[in-house]
Amino acid sequence: MMRFPDNFLWGGATAANQFEGAYNEDGKGLSIQDIAPKGIVGPITEGPTEDNMKLIGIDFYHRYKEDIKLFAEMGFKTFRMSIAWSRIFPNGDDLEPNEKGLEFYDRVFDELAKYGIEPLVTLSHYETPLHLAKEYDGWTDRRLIGFFERYARTVFTRYKDKVKYWLTFNEINSAIHAPFMSAGIMTPMDQLSKQDLYQAMHHELVASALAVKIGHEINPEFKIGCMILGVPTYPLTAHPDDMLKAMAQDRESLFFGDIHARGEYPKYMNRFFKENNISIKMEEGDAEILKNTVDFISFSYYMSTCATANPDELKKAEGNLIFGVPNPYLDASEWGWQIDPKGLRYILNFYYDRYQKPLFIVENGLGAVDELIEDENGNKIVNDDYRIKYLNDHLVQVGEAIEDGVELMGYTTWGCIDLVSASTAELKKRYGFIYVDRHDDGSGTLERYKKKSFDWYKEVIATQGESLQK
Ligand code: BG6
Repeated sequence: MMRFPDNFLWGGATAANQFEGAYNEDGKGLSIQDIAPKGIVGPITEGPTEDNMKLIGIDFYHRYKEDIKLFAEMGFKTFRMSIAWSRIFPNGDDLEPNEKGLEFYDRVFDELAKYGIEPLVTLSHYETPLHLAKEYDGWTDRRLIGFFERYARTVFTRYKDKVKYWLTFNEINSAIHAPFMSAGIMTPMDQLSKQDLYQAMHHELVASALAVKIGHEINPEFKIGCMILGVPTYPLTAHPDDMLKAMAQDRESLFFGDIHARGEYPKYMNRFFKENNISIKMEEGDAEILKNTVDFISFSYYMSTCATANPDELKKAEGNLIFGVPNPYLDASEWGWQIDPKGLRYILNFYYDRYQKPLFIVENGLGAVDELIEDENGNKIVNDDYRIKYLNDHLVQVGEAIEDGVELMGYTTWGCIDLVSASTAELKKRYGFIYVDRHDDGSGTLERYKKKSFDWYKEVIATQGESLQK
């Protein structure tokens, strides 16, 4: 088995809203997640409700020392987390930051530094301050660029000697499927015009490039990346019409990476905009700002999908059309996400060929129902061989991609400690190496337990991947 590069950044990934809890402590304002108890699948509420698992999360806010110690024990070189924007600017449009919020992240970064773990920090991970959603309709309003700029400048300056790796917007392309969660847009999706949606995307893209510019001014050593939801599309058959459908479907997402990496709108969008009556309002200076391209491309990878031009095939796949139709050659997770390790090798090569910039896999993993049991010595454990298999098979393909010549900075598994799911807001969908005793009915002690995969990942990191099974 190949040995991964010595400086490879092994680690795990999280997001503030899914694990910090303490939703209203120390001056934090509400975020859109505090009124979304059912994730993207259910209705939003007026204010926070008790059934919202994210309000307490897994209480990382108070238990970060214990958790970081466990990450260090696994040998993490990096830890991906996000800053909750509403901890720093409770309303989003405040003029002054909340000092207590800033202090919390100082403590977390200092704790990581004790173990030599590099933070990898997402500025905005599905947690737009609620006030910006309610008063401005989220990113549809151009003023959000200025609010985000103030926020980015504040945290870049404060943590300039503590954080080197930054990501701007989590899965920025997901906004075209989930505008509320991803872009804080309150207007219901069926009433949101394509014009407003793509204008909102333009604002986010400008804000992202602006953050890259400001970050580099504050510390030229910063490495700032974009973050794309990576779902490669295969044609369902070899029919040329399916191939063209796959190309079009992929471009819906590639558009975001293309702007981040190349610094301008790709030409194929002109036709898309024309056919959909979209006319992006560019202000003076926007084109110039967009030229501040990212240092690296990061992405999440869980699954691939298929595209078809055949209406009969489309009908069969009804209900699963967010991205496309299922691949007959692949199995799926308990939540219906199709498992495709080779798709990861494919997308790594595809992105690298296209962008010629370093890549970073910042999410990958299996959401599954875990059972905490007692072993023969009376220790509590989860025998998550299914998770080990999933991660092993994906990492083997990552190794293949590195052999193919892809320049890869690192790999962080999603939800390295169990946390609340983004799409369904459940805790039953677990991804971690560390089990957290908390359940969807609100019960549980919040105690942490190592799963079988904990020692497995520790070994993978210690051997630089040589322990992986091909
Ligand atoms: C990504 C998000 O889409 O997938 C994470 O960036 C999310 O926030 C992860 O948790 C897994 O999705 P889910 O819905 O299983 O939590």
